[in-house]
Amino acid sequence: MLTFNTIQQVRQQVADWKQQGRRIAFVPTMGNLHAGHLSLMEQLKGDEVCLIVSIYVNPLQFGKNEDFGTYPRTLDEDSQKLEQLGVDLLYLPESTEIYPDGPEAATRVIVPGLADILEGESRPGFFTGVATVVNKLFNIVQPDVACFGAKDYQQLQIIRRMVADLAMPVEIVSAPTIREPDGLAMSSRNQYLTAEERIHAAKLNVCLQHLVKDASQGTDSNYAVIHATQELEANAFNVDYIVVRRQQDLGVPEPGDTQLVALAAVKLGKTRLIDNICFEINNT
Ligand code: PAF
Repeated sequence: MLTFNTIQQVRQQVADWKQQGRRIAFVPTMGNLHAGHLSLMEQLKGDEVCLIVSIYVNPLQFGKNEDFGTYPRTLDEDSQKLEQLGVDLLYLPESTEIYPDGPEAATRVIVPGLADILEGESRPGFFTGVATVVNKLFNIVQPDVACFGAKDYQQLQIIRRMVADLAMPVEIVSAPTIREPDGLAMSSRNQYLTAEERIHAAKLNVCLQHLVKDASQGTDSNYAVIHATQELEANAFNVDYIVVRRQQDLGVPEPGDTQLVALAAVKLGKTRLIDNICFEINNT
């Protein structure tokens, strides 16, 4: 596996591969890799494909009181996992190249509307940070295809919107959420949970499943959401939001909408957890 730090090295390698007719596949990450990340990479592997993974803890997507300083950084373990998986190139960007004048001075990519609701409302600036860094990484890596996890559903939709709006020549594919045996969606932040919180954490997905069942059976959606909120609170979660939205644009569903997604964000102690379930309702 090649490991590069500079834009120039990555560009040169990508140009060589493209000249050989190879397809460039890309998975951007913030490291601390778990089975969820590795499944994104598995999804892209194939003949004639060169797989590039970046690891960069992006300061622009962390709020002032968030965990940028303590976000788990496990480069040696990550490198080993990527090597074993057969990744071709690990890109470890230098902050001085990603944000030459510092993150605050960087030109930004803003995705209005979609970036301001749900996660964006609770974490102002978060999606601008994500869209900005992903845009820059795409410009450096110039992938033909990139993969993002369905676990971060709103992030996935924002990347899709950015790529469509800016006519970026990259195909976006998604990979299903990978879960622990008890149903908890895998996330690097799960390791912040205490042993007791970890046991409770699995209930988040159970409550979402109940909401999906209620909504699918035609229960009034306001009632279904109130019920789900009460169930989360009874399980010691501090509820940020639990909602049912349209899959495509995360708008409030209207009569006739059939492709829906239930999304939730909660706090358990100091740890913020998110999860979602896509589902379809039959309106006939
Ligand atoms: O999902 C993540 O790990 C990050 O938001 C991403 C897409 C790598 C951008 O920093």
